[in-house]
Amino acid sequence: MNLKVSRKTIENTQLNTLIVFVNKSSEKSAGKGRGSAAKKGTKLVTGLKDEIKDFLLNEETISGEKGEFQLYRNAELAGYKNLLVVGLGEAASFGLEDLRITSAKLLGRLRSSKIKECGLALDTLGKVSAKADVLSKALAEGLTMSSYRFDDYKKKDEKEKEGIEITFISSSPQKATAVKKGLDEGGTIGEAVNFSRRLGDKPGNKMTPTLLAKAVQEAAKGSKLKVTVWEKAEIKKHKMGGLLGVAAGSDQDPRLIIMEYKGAAASKKPLCFVGKGLTFDSGGISLKPGPGMEDMKYDMCGGANVIGAMLAIARLKLKVNVMAIVPASENMPGPSANKPGDILTAMDGTTIEVNNTDAEGRLILADALCYAVTKKPAAIVDAATLTGAMVIALGSSHTGVYTNSERLWGKVSAAASRAGESVWQMPVCDDHKKDIKGIYADIANTGCSREAGSATAAVFLKHFIGDTPWAHFDIAGTAWHAGKRKAYHPQKGASGVMVRTFVELSKSY
Ligand code: BES
Ligand code: ZN
Ligand code: ZN
Repeated sequence: MNLKVSRKTIENTQLNTLIVFVNKSSEKSAGKGRGSAAKKGTKLVTGLKDEIKDFLLNEETISGEKGEFQLYRNAELAGYKNLLVVGLGEAASFGLEDLRITSAKLLGRLRSSKIKECGLALDTLGKVSAKADVLSKALAEGLTMSSYRFDDYKKKDEKEKEGIEITFISSSPQKATAVKKGLDEGGTIGEAVNFSRRLGDKPGNKMTPTLLAKAVQEAAKGSKLKVTVWEKAEIKKHKMGGLLGVAAGSDQDPRLIIMEYKGAAASKKPLCFVGKGLTFDSGGISLKPGPGMEDMKYDMCGGANVIGAMLAIARLKLKVNVMAIVPASENMPGPSANKPGDILTAMDGTTIEVNNTDAEGRLILADALCYAVTKKPAAIVDAATLTGAMVIALGSSHTGVYTNSERLWGKVSAAASRAGESVWQMPVCDDHKKDIKGIYADIANTGCSREAGSATAAVFLKHFIGDTPWAHFDIAGTAWHAGKRKAYHPQKGASGVMVRTFVELSKSY
């Protein structure tokens, strides 16, 4: 897919198809006092004149209802053969996230109608209250994210041929500059989301810890990102017993991937992301049941999504200092695997009883968090497909966030709302601290009951944080198969959730 900006007027683009948006008036905006309620529901057309406007207002098959898509082939209006009308409903209840979702549906409509090139009349979004660059950013994000396909392992002729080109048309050259800025920014963020999705979608044999580290090094080329990869010997040197213990059951060596980006003064403390990079979770000796186990290739989405956020931050050249630490490993039941009851020692000397080898994410994160703390960051933000309990609690709509800092929560919820993603604050509670007390070691990797599984996991992570402001994002429910909630996500497959929020969050540091 190619997104372009035109400096021509609507009448002069010589494109086949024009996309226009139509609103519906709300009682408030249409009426001036009593007696005008009948006006509610009237079609509202902005940014167009003459022929097309008259057509939209007079054509009875157009309602302006949210979710409406009407294609008028051979309409022959203002030099366009076809007109694609998109209804937005009332502008007051139509926000930027609605625009991303509408973009996804729009792309679906263009695909099914076999439209390869078209113009998009940006001024017809005039009723949606945002500036041209903000509107085009949201459109670019929605379109880019929904253009994602994971068909890397399909025969070439089975692959869908895409090649859709959308030209954004606005009323003035000044506006065109802002539109271009928004398109570039939204496109960069959308591409980063798609990069993260691809890492997650690749199966375990095509995305091992070694291959993940290589993919990050490759992607960082040409940017200001510094990537350091620790192999097993270096991980051993740093006494990362959790990461080494989890990796012991696999013949694939672990990696610790460190990404650094310095866009602000060297004296400024970095924001540090940590992501669970478990490239395949079989459960280990506490083996998972067979049905659905193939989905555990997604157990690296925390790592993949912080990697995507770092790429976007560097490509957008944001004036911030950020770093990311991704512990990468497989969790397999090989002959040297962790056994239930084994005791591991994390980087900070904490001893951990491994009562269930399937609770491996917190073991590899423990070491990564210890290492993050040594960097004295302004805050630590981790993302992990950590617990099945999170899927039960919030499903695929909201990401659960645990934090030790209300101030950080304020920044997180503001960033998520700007990015259009849904987060929900979960409780970090001392009761659960007792639940993970070890019998033979300092702490245990599972709670003593089945209650509050995601909260106990969060408290386990908190043990390694000290006083650093910290937020833990359990993305087990939102990292994959989230398409039924948001049209721009794949029905099946990685979602790249929180990449957008993390980019936004970094702007507040
Ligand atoms: N990777 C899983 C969590 C998970 C489950 C993610 C389902 C996505 C969907 C994690 O490593 C795990 O297996 N956790 C266990 C912990 C339990 C043994 C305490 C779980 O949640 O069942
Ligand atoms: Zn597991
Ligand atoms: Zn796992």
